[in-house]
Amino acid sequence: MFKNYRITDDIFYVGVNDRQKVKFENLIPLTKGVSYNSYLIIDEKIALIDAVDISFADVYMDKINAQLNGRKPDYVIVNHTEPDHSGALRVLMAHFPDMCIVGNKKTLDILNGFYRIAYNTLEVADGDTLSLGNHELQFYLTPMVHWPETMMTFDKSAKILFSGDAFGSFGALNGALIDEDMNIDGYWDELILYYANIVGKYGSPVQKALEKVGGLPFEIICSTHGPVWKKYLKETVGLYDRLSRYEGEKGIVIVYGSMYGNTALMAETVAQGAGQAGVKNIIVHNASLTDSSVILRDIFKYKGLIIGSPTYSNELYPEIDAIVRKIAIRGIKNRVFGYFGSFTWAGASVKRLASFAETMKWEPVLTPVEEKQGLKEEKYNACLELGAKVAGLL
Ligand code: FEO
Repeated sequence: MFKNYRITDDIFYVGVNDRQKVKFENLIPLTKGVSYNSYLIIDEKIALIDAVDISFADVYMDKINAQLNGRKPDYVIVNHTEPDHSGALRVLMAHFPDMCIVGNKKTLDILNGFYRIAYNTLEVADGDTLSLGNHELQFYLTPMVHWPETMMTFDKSAKILFSGDAFGSFGALNGALIDEDMNIDGYWDELILYYANIVGKYGSPVQKALEKVGGLPFEIICSTHGPVWKKYLKETVGLYDRLSRYEGEKGIVIVYGSMYGNTALMAETVAQGAGQAGVKNIIVHNASLTDSSVILRDIFKYKGLIIGSPTYSNELYPEIDAIVRKIAIRGIKNRVFGYFGSFTWAGASVKRLASFAETMKWEPVLTPVEEKQGLKEEKYNACLELGAKVAGLL
């Protein structure tokens, strides 16, 4: 029944859309869904590249069988073992017991640990090749993009890079697979959302991976999530390069927490100061309302970051504390940072934000604004000035 998307004459898409999951990894809200991409190369030997989440095993098997005309896959190449891609492996193995599982040493260790898969395996090392007949596959180990075992598979004859999570985006596929066949506008933010939350801690490994595979003559990228990149190949690789170097666009993200509106008013005033200084991209996030995944996306996107927090139990406001930890975990570099805070009887939030700035090694450290209770004229003007100063340093 299924007529699968075709990428070339003999390479097909057998992945699935997930519009049911509420939170990816039980953490990141999926407002536009997600796809789990799997590909099928039909040659003298047949290879699947990556699998899908276990929840979609039924439809996945039907899509594969629709393409095989009674033949059976000889290999499944596991570029990444995270269960959104490996979950359906045991179902695949039950249907195709002679199929060989291809991965590197770490891949096979993890598959054994998760699923007790320890037979019919083929261990490959960096640079090894596997011939399917007309297609020759070459494996490139790219650890920590996003797990230690992650690798990429380059199909030399088709000039396709099967890249695992790299270059992937959130957002289910809406009626088309390849970027040139769809309106791609909404996927850039979904790619940054995926990068910031899933891969963002691993900027240096991503840079190493780009050095390793960047020179390969690929004309198509097939990642494990989101559109297949063909028309926008250069833009996608360029965006990944900038994100992994923590290079932000000209713009400012202002994140604040506020219980009764005093710190919120400071945030609005800082934003006004930045706007009056000529910055057009200014995003103000109330950390109690906007999910931290979206805040992180915007922090990866823009060079300026200003954080404001009231003092809460002699600490940062809890929602700000959480976002600050998430920024620190990702080691985000090269941000122009400003901060402000308020308190009612004893100030602590501004001190905590100063320590955070020191940990992040962001320079220069601008003079913060700290207000006691409601915002008054002197600190109102200081907030305008803080926004203008960050704007001037972008
Ligand atoms: Fe899409 Fe790291 O899994």
